[in-house]
Parts: sequence; C-alpha cells; structure tokens
Amino acid sequence: MSATLKPKVLFIGFGHLAKSLLSKKLLNSVNIHALNSKGVIKNINLKKKILNFNNDYNYIFFLIRPKTFLTSGNQFQKYLSKETLVISCMAGVKLSTIEKTLKSKKIVRIMPNVMASNNKSQTHIYMKNKNLFDSKLKKILSTFGTIINVRNEDQINFATAVFGSGPAFIAYIVNIFLKASKKLAKPYHHMNEKEVIELFKNVLETNYSSKMLDDFVRSISSKKGTTEAGVNYIKSQKIEKIIYTTFLRAYQRSKEIDSEKKNTNS
Ligand SMILES: NC(=O)c1ccc[n+]([C@@H]2O[C@H](COP(=O)([O-])OP(=O)(O)OC[C@H]3O[C@@H](n4cnc5c(N)ncnc54)[C@H](OP(=O)(O)O)[C@@H]3O)[C@@H](O)[C@H]2O)c1
Repeated sequence: MSATLKPKVLFIGFGHLAKSLLSKKLLNSVNIHALNSKGVIKNINLKKKILNFNNDYNYIFFLIRPKTFLTSGNQFQKYLSKETLVISCMAGVKLSTIEKTLKSKKIVRIMPNVMASNNKSQTHIYMKNKNLFDSKLKKILSTFGTIINVRNEDQINFATAVFGSGPAFIAYIVNIFLKASKKLAKPYHHMNEKEVIELFKNVLETNYSSKMLDDFVRSISSKKGTTEAGVNYIKSQKIEKIIYTTFLRAYQRSKEIDSEKKNTNS
C-alpha cells in the first residue's frame, strides 16, 4: 500500500504502552504521528517533526494517563475531525466521559497490553455503536495480537485487571519463585534461572485448563510425599485469597478512576 493511501493515525501520548503497540506490522499498514507532552508532533514512520498539523486523522489513540485526560482532556478536541475514530486505551475512563470531553460519539475503548510488542496482546474492545468496528479497524488492532469483543463496559475493568495489569502480576509471581528457589539453592548448589523459567513454560505447555492443572497437582502429590508437604503449606497460606484480592484491587481501582475527574489534586 502506498504511503498516501495508508490511514493516518495520531498517538496522543508516547509512553510505555504506545511504544509497545509500535510493531513493524503496524508501521507497514498506517502512517503514525505521535503527540508528546510538550505539544510536539512527530511523524514516527519518517522519524521527523511535524511543523503544521492537519486534523485529518482517521484514528486517534489516547495513550495518556487517565489523570491527564480527566483534568485537561478537552485540549485534544482540536486534533479531531468528523471522520476521526477515537480509540481510548486509558484504564477506567468511561466512554460517556470521553464523549463529553471530546464532543464526539465515534469512540471505542480498548484494553491492550504491553505484549503487543511481539503481537501477543489479547486486546479487549468495547463500543456502543457496533458499526465502528469495521474491517479497517480490525486490521489495525490485529497487529497487536488477538481481539476480544466485550458487550458490557464493565468487562473492560475486568480486562484491565486481568489482561492489562495481569502481565505484571505474573512477572512478579514468577520472580518470587525464582528468588525463593535461588535462596534455597544457596550456598550448596548452582541454580540456573533459565532452567526455572523453562520449568514454568513446560508445565503450561502440557496443562492448559483449570481441570488439567488440578489433575496435574494431584498426580504429583503422593501421600506423605514432598509435593504434598509443599502444597499443603501453600494452601494453608490462603494463596487463593491473595491472588483474588490482587485482581480485585486492580478492578476496583479501574472502576473508581472515572469519578476522580472533579478531584484534580489527587
Ligand atoms: N502500560 C500498560 O501496560 C497499559 C496497559 C493497558 C492500558 N494502559 C493505559 O495506557 C495509558 C498510558 O499508559 P503508559 O503506561 O504508557 O503511561 P506512560 O508511560 O506514563 O505514558 C504516558 C505518556 O503520555 C504523555 N503525556 C502526558 N501529558 C501529555 C499531553 N498533555 N499531551 C500528550 N502526551 C502527554 C507522557 O509524556 P511525558 O513523559 O513527556 O510526560 C507519556 O509519554 C494509560 O491510560 C493506561 O491506563 C497501559
């Protein structure tokens, strides 16, 4: 596709998430400009500054923090035209708030994650008007990974907790496993981190449902054996409650963000 026929996309905000959405696949299918906090717009494909912008963007991605949008989101109205489809990646900011702030009805909310950098984001999408999800939008969002349509806006809060924040929770837990096994190994044995990471991958490769994982634990836990000793301890420490509460905290935080729009000092 020639450069002129490619859809024009503006990224408002160019932080962690924005950078992870930028794959070769995406750059091949759209022309991307990015606006930073100093009001400078850069052409990402050509790696140069834009001196005069035209508000002829087909898609505008909101990749700023919710607080920035809630306190001064109306400053971005000038980048929109009647044709522009707004794609909000912001956690917690409701569709109705975005509509009011930007004075537009052409809005979809998505919840991608940083795994988009290797095309592995499981991106949840919500919109009121289903017609906004056409083949062109599908093509763009598919460059991030898979797309999961949700019917209810609250499901975006769930997706934020499990799929948006989830990768960080998983990384944290795996790292605890690594650190604990290192601690046990020291000073008697050499422990190779990669081997433990490999162990995680191997277990997940052969067990890919809750039932399989339950059966797997049972099959290794023989009576009075080593696994049973460890499993009994982990169960007694209410690990289920800890993990559930971790998700619940993220979910509740996502639900309360929108109501902070009037409280600009928090
Ligand atoms: N990170 C994730 O994994 C993830 C996943 C799903 C959804 N999200 C959502 O994505 C959004 C961005 O998250 P992030 O982690 O990428 O945050 P981030 O790294 O802090 O990026 C935010 C960016 O916005 C820029 N910015 C601030 N004010 C601006 C303005 N007035 N105009 C233009 N740009 C401005 C910042 O620039 P400066 O650095 O110059 O201030 C920064 O580059 C959030 O709403 C978050 O809820 C994030």
